[in-house]
Amino acid sequence: MAIMDCVGRAGVPDAGGDDLLLLRKAMRTALIVGNWKMHKLIAEAVAFTADVLPRLSGTRAEIALAPAFTALGPLVQAVGGAGVAIYAQNMHEAPFGPFTGEVSAPMLVELGVAGVILGHSERRRLFGETDRALRQKVPAALRAGLQPILCVGQSDRSGGGHELRQQLQEDLAGVDEEQLADVVIAYEPLWAIGTGTAATCAQAQEASAFVRALVAERSPAAAERIRILYGGCVTPAASGELLAQPDVDGALVADASLDPVSFAAIVAAA
Ligand code: 13P
Repeated sequence: MAIMDCVGRAGVPDAGGDDLLLLRKAMRTALIVGNWKMHKLIAEAVAFTADVLPRLSGTRAEIALAPAFTALGPLVQAVGGAGVAIYAQNMHEAPFGPFTGEVSAPMLVELGVAGVILGHSERRRLFGETDRALRQKVPAALRAGLQPILCVGQSDRSGGGHELRQQLQEDLAGVDEEQLADVVIAYEPLWAIGTGTAATCAQAQEASAFVRALVAERSPAAAERIRILYGGCVTPAASGELLAQPDVDGALVADASLDPVSFAAIVAAA
């Protein structure tokens, strides 16, 4: 119980038993997102979709792909209406303005983009993404009609509950209680991203339950509805057990999403 121990158990509601947890989970649609980071030229991205689409039939999960900015428009065209949403990997909080090199929510919407990953740890660590900016970005995405996926995660393998609490408090401060459940949260422990060492299913469940409990401190109703994804070395082999965890509602997958066969296998496990 490392994460819980870090902040104490205050605010963590009584889960109400496994059956109730699984019943609540069944009310939430699973979401599997491929975060391609800075991979795939346009032709490669389009070829991927031609390969993967026939492999995705029969799933009840929501599916999204997040390519680089350059491939967003072509992928919207390639998958239009085929049950795969196209998400961006970042956006600016302002709708327009003197921000060289940035892209805004209305610009993404104009392309047919349906959602956006915000606050990925690589953006926080390598590009100076701040909680202060995220406080603006999450509501800006919601206002524009984009599905925000807010990434949070701790760097310390043996704890880090305070980091999660702080990130969630600050990054969601601009979101009204009524809209809290419309945000998707991706729990991505930094030590698991691209390292070959995933969190165990028990760790992913514990952290997701903790994140849900933090949301419950603001709104118990939103906490029941909000979707929480796990990210960090998700593989086809481990995804069945991972996605069956009562508080894990899907996955944010990078490496394994670059190959159509492994991405489709993860979707099939949801
Ligand atoms: P990997 O799946 O490559 O570990 O990356 C996780 C990630 O960063 C998803 O956003």
